Amino acid sequence: MQNQLQGKLLLATNNPGKLIELRSLLAELPKVELFSPEELNIKLQVDETGVDYAENAVLKARAFALASGMAALADDSGLEVDALEGAPGLFSARYAPQPGATDADRRAYLLKNLAGMDLPWPARFRAVIAVAQPNGIVQVAEGVCEGEIIPEERGTGGFGYDPIFLLQGGDKTMAELSETEKNLVSHRARAVQAAMPVLKNIFGI
Ligand code: IMP
Repeated sequence: MQNQLQGKLLLATNNPGKLIELRSLLAELPKVELFSPEELNIKLQVDETGVDYAENAVLKARAFALASGMAALADDSGLEVDALEGAPGLFSARYAPQPGATDADRRAYLLKNLAGMDLPWPARFRAVIAVAQPNGIVQVAEGVCEGEIIPEERGTGGFGYDPIFLLQGGDKTMAELSETEKNLVSHRARAVQAAMPVLKNIFGI
C-alpha cells in the first residue's frame, strides 16, 4: 500500500496562510513530496457542511484524495472565544456579515462583538488534521493553542485572527511570532505533530 502512494502528499487547502505553515511543518517528513491543489491544477471548493472540525477536515481530505488519486491532508480550524460561547468556532472563516469580507473585516467584527464585555477574553485556536488515502481510509488528529483576544491589533505575521490573539503565558500575539516560532506552538503545529505517526505509517517512514 505504501508504495502505491508514491511518496506524494496533497495539501488540501486553498488558504495561502495555511499552505505556507503546512509546508514548513511537514518539511521534516523525508522523501515525501508536497503539492498544493494549484500545482496539480485541481480546482475544488468543498462545502464545509460538517457539524464539527473533524467532519469538515474529513470532507476536504476525502474530496482532494479522490480528485488527485494521492494521499491528501486537510486542516479544519477555528478560533473559540469563551465570552462569545465558543464563536466564531466552526464559522471562523466566514465570520463577518458583509460578502467578500477580509481577515481584517473579521477581526474588526469580532472586536465589535466583544466591545463592552469584561476583559480578559480567553480564547483558543483549535485545528483538526485529516489524512485521507485514495482507498478511502481517513485518520484525524487535533491540536489546541490557548490564549486570549486583545482589543488592539499587534504584529504583521501569520494570517486570520493572529494579530488579536495573545498567547497564554507570553507577551506576544500570534502575529508577532516569526514563522518558526508560530510553528513551535500553534494549534496547527500540534495537530500535525499528532498526525505524524499516521503520516509516517502511510509513507513507510
Ligand atoms: P477553515 O479551516 O478553512 O474553515 O478556516 C479556518 C479559519 O479559522 C481561518 O480562515 C481563520 O479565520 C481562522 N484560523 C485558523 N487558523 C488560524 C491561525 O493559525 N491564525 C489565525 N486565524 C486562524
